[in-house]
Order: sequence, then C-alpha cells, then structure tokens
Amino acid sequence: MLIELRASDDRLRGPKALDAAPILTSAYKAAAESPQDLSRLRVVCDFIQYRQNFRDAVEVRRVEPWAIEPGFDATDGQSWEIAIDLRRAKPETIEASIKRSFANGAAAADETRLPLEDWRPGSKSLIWGFNGLYWKALSLWEQATGKGYESALPGGQSDARNVEAARELILDLFELWDNLASRRALPEELYVLEIGVGNGNQAAAFLDEFRRLNREKGRGYYRRLHYLMGDYSPHVLELARKNVAHHAEHVSSLVLDALRPTETLGFLRYKAFLVYISNVYDNLPTDEIVRIGGHLFQVQTRAVFSRSAAESLAATINARPENLPEVVARLLRLGPELLAEVLPEHFPSVGDAVAFWRAAWEALRLEERYVPLIELDTYEIAPDIGGELLRPIVEANGDLRMHVSNGAATSFADTLPLLHPHGVLQCHDLFVTDVHQYANGFRGPGKYDGSVVNWVNGRLLSAIGNRRGFDVTFAAFAHRTGANVLTMTARARD
Ligand SMILES: C[S@@+](CC[C@H](N)C(=O)[O-])C[C@H]1O[C@@H](n2cnc3c(N)ncnc32)[C@H](O)[C@@H]1O
Repeated sequence: MLIELRASDDRLRGPKALDAAPILTSAYKAAAESPQDLSRLRVVCDFIQYRQNFRDAVEVRRVEPWAIEPGFDATDGQSWEIAIDLRRAKPETIEASIKRSFANGAAAADETRLPLEDWRPGSKSLIWGFNGLYWKALSLWEQATGKGYESALPGGQSDARNVEAARELILDLFELWDNLASRRALPEELYVLEIGVGNGNQAAAFLDEFRRLNREKGRGYYRRLHYLMGDYSPHVLELARKNVAHHAEHVSSLVLDALRPTETLGFLRYKAFLVYISNVYDNLPTDEIVRIGGHLFQVQTRAVFSRSAAESLAATINARPENLPEVVARLLRLGPELLAEVLPEHFPSVGDAVAFWRAAWEALRLEERYVPLIELDTYEIAPDIGGELLRPIVEANGDLRMHVSNGAATSFADTLPLLHPHGVLQCHDLFVTDVHQYANGFRGPGKYDGSVVNWVNGRLLSAIGNRRGFDVTFAAFAHRTGANVLTMTARARD
C-alpha cells in the first residue's frame, strides 16, 4: 500500500501546517479493514485550495488493469486509488466514506450518484459546456451573484488592468518599431491581438497608455495601430467594446475560438507584433495523465450529481432526478433565457433557470477512473502534436499526475503562426514550470464562480514552442508580488 501526500511544505509543517496524522490514521484503518488487495491500493492526499471544486472530501477511483492478456479476468485483482482532500476530510467520517465507496464502486453502478454523461477524457467533459455558458451568459450570472468575475481570479483581481505592465510592453514595441522604421522595414499597419478579453480592462489600459506614450514620445504609431479583440463570447466582446469606445477607430472585435485563432484571423499571419493572452489558458479544456509504477494512464472523468443533490435540484424545478441529465444538456445547449422559454413548467422565469444553473454548477462533481494509455504516440495532445512530446516531461520525475493542457497547447500552436518574425506572444497565467510542482500541490480543476480553472503545463508549451523555432520563457509577474501568476513570453529564435 502506498500513501502519498501532495501538499506544499508549509501545509505539512510550520505555523500553517494542518494536522494530517488523524486523517492518515483513519484512512489507513479503513483501507486495512477493506477486502481490497493492499498491494494494489494507493491513498493520495491533496490539499485542495479551491473552496469550490469537483470532488467530495473522499473519493475512490478504479485503476483499470494494465496488462489485459488472454484469459485475464478484469474483475480480478483490481487496483484502487483513494483520494482524500486534506482540507475538508474529517478523520471521523473517512472510514465510513471509504467503506461506502468501495461497496458502491465495486458494484456495476454507483447507486449514490447520478451520472450526467458517459466516461470520457477530461477535455471532453460536460464541465466545459458549463464553462462556455458562463462566459456567454455572464451578465445573468453576475446579476444573480452581485459579483464581477474578476473577484474570483487569483488575488481577487486581474493583472490585465495593470498600467505598469502595459507601459513596459508598449515601450518594447516602440523600440522594436523604431528599429524597423530606421531600416524601412516597418509595415504601415501595426497589429496587436488580444485573445480572451473579458471585460476589456486590459485593452483599455493598453490603449490609454499607448496613446499617452505615443504623444509623450512624439511617435505616429497610434494612428497606425489596429487592436484586435478576440473572444468566443459575444456578450463579453460587447462589454469590452464599450470599455474601449473612446478608441473605437483603432479597435475591432471578433468572435473567435481561442483554440483556432487562424481560422478567423488568416489575414493576420506573420503580422501581429504582440499577441496578449491573460487568464485564458487556465480556462481551456484539458486531459490529465497519471503515471503509476512506471505505467501511464489517462484520467477519465464522468460528471455526476450525488443522489441527494439530484433530489433537491429536481424538487426545485418540479422534475424527477432522472430527468436532470436531459435538463442539464438543454441548459448547456440553449442557455437560461431560452430554457425558460421552452420549459416554462419547470422554469417560470429566467431567474429560475439561472438559479438552477448555479445550483447545478455547485452540485457538480467529477468521478474519475484511470485507463491504461499504452501507446503514447497514438495519443493526440492537439492537432498535429503527438503524445510523444509528453514522454520526457511525464518521465522526468517518477510517478506523478499532471495536466496535458490540450486546450492551451492547441491555442498556443495555432497562435504562433500569426506572429510577425519580430513579434511576441505574452501570456499571464497559472503555469507549472517544474513537473515537481505536480507532486507538492493541487493544480486543478477548481471552480471559479461559474468557470473552470486548471494550472497550465508550461513544460509542454515550451516544448511545443521550441519545436517551432520559438524561445519560451517564464518569469514572475513583475508588477504584483505574492501572486502565483507567471508571465510566459514566446518569440522567434534569431
Ligand atoms: C478569466 S477571463 C480573462 C479575461 C481577461 N483576459 C483578464 O485577464 O481579466 C477568460 C476569458 O477567456 C474567454 N475564453 C475562454 N475560453 C475561450 C475560447 N475557447 N475562445 C475564446 N475565448 C475564450 C472568456 O470568454 C473570457 O473572456
């Protein structure tokens, strides 16, 4: 039996340490008393810092057999992982939870939970439908909570509005443009692209500062500037557009998918001097993989409600629990306004549909199981990016569980071709830059209000950039201390 504690040093010792011993004792007793083969049992303990997340305090996961040989009975010799949240688990209830989970997990169907979908890789989970809906119907959510989305971001604010950071970027651009101009190599049109604009605070901070510096330095760059704002939420784009209305002549807003920017922005190929992306990669779909005993597994997930949550939710909308998978699917397809129109017997007003949406999000959990990933080279990280690129990363540090960051990888690879040969992509986000970080902290998924957050596999993005001839560097965000946010910069190698 293996017990793993994946918490940071200051959670395990020192003044902020938690008392893990009673939790471990209780887990150990419950495991030892279970009928499971202890040599095939792992207990992993995370400190889940996100108050809202997709797990119960104790979860039991099936690890599917690695080698399925002829005559091998897959029901025999199963392996299991018990996952404990060190922040929420109560020693006195762990034992009962583990016993109950084994009783249910071993049965064909778990009677205590209502699945909303079939098993699938994390990037295909229905949680991404919720995530997209949040951005598309943001105003309804914000009206209901009375809070803006920024208050849920790391540190309660977005670095997007940081004027110092904008100034630094702009002065670098001016220097580059002065240089190119002196060699008569500066194009007439000066393009800057921002992907995932939110309320437009970054665009406003950038454009205000740009105009001010342009005047101060006596340059004619503002006149030539085209600031493109891309987002998949028309609602968010409208907010951003209003925020920069005083720069309207220099701004275009485009509905686009961050995963495929070249689809909409083909005309921009090799032309963007700056692509700016903040707090978006951590919001894009991802798979997770896990290495156990040197073998690789894919984490498959399934969105569920607990039976008791399903009963309460169903009662609030005058439905039966077994109707919920269909109602949730329609909510994600139609959004709360149309849902209230087509199902008035369940949602007399849009407010009722929004209340259901919020309650469903809160109740949403992800069950997990581990399925062997035997041939890494057949796994696709992103279009034209094969799984082999992961091998040196996942094998660098013994057994571990990590994010693949498929969405971030897809977006990054499809954005690089837009850069001018001297252009730069800058991204503020939660990056893992050393795989060891996966062993000493929980990196997601967590819930920020109605959206999903996962740290981003910076090692993988570096590898993708390097293969395409780009240097990729990471630095602490220079203009705010104490934040986990890093700045990733990618530029073509000279
Ligand atoms: C957390 S907000 C960040 C907003 C802003 N950049 C900031 O830092 O405050 C994420 C933004 O990314 C957008 N977004 C998320 N996934 C996207 C996708 N696949 N395509 C385009 N935009 C996306 C959302 O609509 C939202 O505007």
